[in-house]
Formats: sequence, C-alpha cells, structure tokens
Amino acid sequence: MANLSVTKRFGILTAGGDCPGLNAAIRGVCRAAYDRYGMEIVGIANGFRGLIENDTKVLKPENFSGILTLGGTILGSSREKPFGGTTSDKDEVDSDKVSAIKDTYSKLNLDCLVVLGGNGTNTTGYKLSCEGLNIIGLPKTIDNDIFGTDRTFGFHSALAIGTEAIDRLHSTAQSHSRVIVIELMGHKAGWLALYAGVAGGGDVILLPEIPYDIRAIGRHLVKRAKSGKTFSIVVAAEGAISLKEADMDKKDRKKYRSENGPSAAYRIAREIQDETGMETRATVLGYMQRGGIPSASDRVLATSLGTAAVELLANGKYGRMVALTGNDIGSIDLSVPEGKIKNVPLNYYMIDTAKAVGTCMGDE
Ligand code: F6P
Repeated sequence: MANLSVTKRFGILTAGGDCPGLNAAIRGVCRAAYDRYGMEIVGIANGFRGLIENDTKVLKPENFSGILTLGGTILGSSREKPFGGTTSDKDEVDSDKVSAIKDTYSKLNLDCLVVLGGNGTNTTGYKLSCEGLNIIGLPKTIDNDIFGTDRTFGFHSALAIGTEAIDRLHSTAQSHSRVIVIELMGHKAGWLALYAGVAGGGDVILLPEIPYDIRAIGRHLVKRAKSGKTFSIVVAAEGAISLKEADMDKKDRKKYRSENGPSAAYRIAREIQDETGMETRATVLGYMQRGGIPSASDRVLATSLGTAAVELLANGKYGRMVALTGNDIGSIDLSVPEGKIKNVPLNYYMIDTAKAVGTCMGDE
C-alpha cells in the first residue's frame, strides 16, 4: 500500500535550456511519487507554455521508464517567461499568460507544480507561488549558476564534454603552432570555463567575472612562445568581457561586439592576433555541451534531487527548491534563488589553483 501523502496530484514541467540529467530527474520524481505514494502525475509540455496552452498529459510508469540515460527532456522545454526576465520589472509581466497558467493549474486539479529549470524557471516558480500556486523547484543547468545550491545537474556532463574538446584542440593547435580560443557556455557565470579550463590545462581562462586585459593575455602568450611552447589554448566563457568593453556603455559595447565577430571566441581571437601577431583561431562548442547522455555524477544528483522533491510533495512543504549543500540534499525557500545568479566568487580557490599552475586569468 502506498504511503500517505499530502499531495495527491501534481504537475511537472521542464523549462529553459535543456541539459543532461533532466530525464533522470523526471524519472526520480515520477518513480518515487508513483511507487512510494501513489500520486497522480500530470506531465506539462514545453515548460510554462504547456500550462498557458493546456498541453498536458497524465504520466504513467511506461512514460517514465527507460529514460535515466536519455539526453534532453521527454517533456520538451521552452523559454516562455510569463513574468518577463529574471528581474521584478512589473512592465514585463504578461498578465494574460499568468491567468492562463493559474486557470490550467486549477482546471487540472493540481495540488502542486514541480518546475525543473534554471534561474529563470525557479524565479518564475517563486512568482507563481506569490500568486497562490504551490510550487517546488528543482535546479538544473550546465551553467551551475543557481543561487542556493552547490551544484546543478548538467554541469558535470557539460564539463566532461568541454574538457574533451580542449584535449582534442591541443593536438591540432600544436600541429599548426596556433593559438586556439575555445568558447564554452556561460553568459553571466564562468563555472564551466573555469572547471573545463583547469581540467583541460588551458593556458588562458577568461570568465565573465574577471574582465580581461588583452595586453596581459598578449604578454602571457608571448612569454609562452619564447619559452618554446609553439601553441596555446585559450578557454573563454561566452560572457567573457574585456576591460575595454567593461568601460563602454551598453550601446557602444553592442556595436563593438557586432563589428568583431559573432561571439566571444571570434572577438578574442581577433584581439589576440592584433595584439601578438600570432595566428589565432576560434572554436565555439555551443549546444554540444547540452546534448547527450548525462554523466554518472549528474544521474546521481538528478535522481537524488528528484526523489527529495517528492518528500517535499508528500509532506506538503511547498514554496521550496531542493538543493545540494556539501554532501547533503535538502531544500531552501524559493525566494532565496529568486532573481539571483551564483557567480564564481573572485576569491574562489580554483582561480588561485589555475594561477598556481601558470594559467593566465586575463587580469595579470
Ligand atoms: O542553459 C543555459 C545556457 O546553456 C547558457 O549558458 C547559454 O547562454 C544559453 O543556455 C543559450 O541557450 P539558448 O540558445 O537555448 O537560449
């Protein structure tokens, strides 16, 4: 007989950019909810859009079986943000969409909605909880930038992909005596570039948190070349920013960027070539980082967070996001991550680790 549960019926959705481990988390939630507590589960298609358009279906074990290792999300995802961006700017709120979400929630007779997503999704979840809906958040993103949890699933898998790419670039950079700039995801936070850069032995690592001085990078690359190293690898987060750009207003920065290539890697490669005269190439890893099977570590984290979310459901502890703190899985109030980003702290030990092994972080 199933255990007693406060929540009898709940909805589940995945929103924002997908990542490896989403299906493992869906399976964790659904299995524990169904097997332990006999809860009814409503799968919502394509993030919050599925609630706006009432695109839903009841999930049975055959729907969440065999998905542990599957990339992507069986529910589909979208970047639909009924409250606008991650700010609390009231002007961006689409009240028709918010009403539609509330209507669908009540028509479906849900006791709670479980949202799997990044900063935007958990912020939307918090705002819906302020509108009276019961919400439980589950943090996911390859960017590892969700405030309130030590790690997000997806990060570990993307790190392995990024590291393998850096490993592979070494031999071609060496063969051609080139500098290669590889761009990894991370608009606002540089976790992925920092970890993959250290794991792959990047010679320069550039993060959004540390505006770079192109002259410092140039000095480092020239010194390397003079010491007999014929090639260099520069690992840049997509949000890497130069001191020069940091000084520009938004409009000038946009113009400068549009005139200097489609993304950070191209811009930085060009700046390096101009600064040093070294032949420099750019590689953008892009969506490769988000696709494919989750790593073992992400499967474990996703499953643990998923089953922990079910304990919150069973106990009626709504308005919370499950989180990893140290080696413990627990939960925090959904208001904690709302509208925030977990950046790499400037005193984070790995910045010094990187510098200690001779990596230039762009600042000296
Ligand atoms: O999911 C977060 C992320 O991976 C960011 O690092 C990146 O900027 C963004 O997704 C790009 O995703 P999309 O093109 O799907 O909006």
